[in-house]
Amino acid sequence: MKVEVEEIKIKEILKGLKDTSLATIGGSDVVSVSQFSKETIDGIFQLAKALRSADPDSYRKLLRNKTMSALFFEPSTRTSASFIAAMSKLGGNVIPITQGVQFSSVSKGENLEDTIKTLECYSDVIVLRHPEIGSADIAANVADIPVINAGDGAGQHPTQGLLDLFTIFDEMDHSKEHITISIIGDLRFGRTVHSLVKLICLYGLKVKLLLVSPEVLRLPAKLLDELKNHNVPYGETSFLNLTEPDIFYMTRVQQERFTEIAEYERNKDVYQINLDSLGHMKKDAIIMHPLPRVYEISPEVDSDPRAAYFRQAKNGLWIRMALLAAIL
Ligand code: NCD
Repeated sequence: MKVEVEEIKIKEILKGLKDTSLATIGGSDVVSVSQFSKETIDGIFQLAKALRSADPDSYRKLLRNKTMSALFFEPSTRTSASFIAAMSKLGGNVIPITQGVQFSSVSKGENLEDTIKTLECYSDVIVLRHPEIGSADIAANVADIPVINAGDGAGQHPTQGLLDLFTIFDEMDHSKEHITISIIGDLRFGRTVHSLVKLICLYGLKVKLLLVSPEVLRLPAKLLDELKNHNVPYGETSFLNLTEPDIFYMTRVQQERFTEIAEYERNKDVYQINLDSLGHMKKDAIIMHPLPRVYEISPEVDSDPRAAYFRQAKNGLWIRMALLAAIL
């Protein structure tokens, strides 16, 4: 009985997402977070929560006979694994090209357009990660089936942005009137940062942002303009303040985006949260990281209840299940 009730609930939320057509989402691409309305985001989060608490029997046939191609031109653990797990849990199939495109015809010189057109013959949705900014737009223009951007170079990572915002809502103390989020590390190349900042603007989240990075890794001017246009208070600094933030969003310095290795070496290990830092932070602070981490958070922090990054990674599953279900 419980399973049937949950199944009906999930289908009702899905119908809501379709009907409102606030849902810019049903049957379409996910290239940037800019395409979402606040209502759509709320709908996706509502669905993700319903899936999280439901019995797996209530959704295991939802995407029966649907196929997702996972085309990854860059390394990935969480994004690829959670997309594949999401599709499997919903009863769908996966064509995984995640173990290196060197085993696909890309290594024979095939261009992105042809690869996309080919995968379209066999699948209902394509999840694409690619090193070039704008590649997801190119793929979306070529394909008649939905394309989901799983990271385009130093551009956007919309599904990560959604799961980050979902985690913030999940973890934060909603009774607090003033929330300060510190985003720390590589704000220039970090695509998860770009999507999160856009989402904070778009959602109208009432927060103050502390943007902490070395001089050369500052947030791109376009995103600073978005913050200004949306009246989001922010400060830019190179100094990591441990006492003020309610939320720490740590990021890896994106080695693969640097043209000069010396510049990477100079900036790769500027900020770290370790046992000593924990003592200075608020008792109810939240530590997030899209992962993988290299130096930014020492492993001894993991057992502290404030360490939210593995819970954050888990949320990626529910968000991607919700997105796939809504799109397909
Ligand atoms: C991020 C990415 O690929 O942009 N990882 C992820 O998807 N969870 C962050 C990173 O690689 O540093």
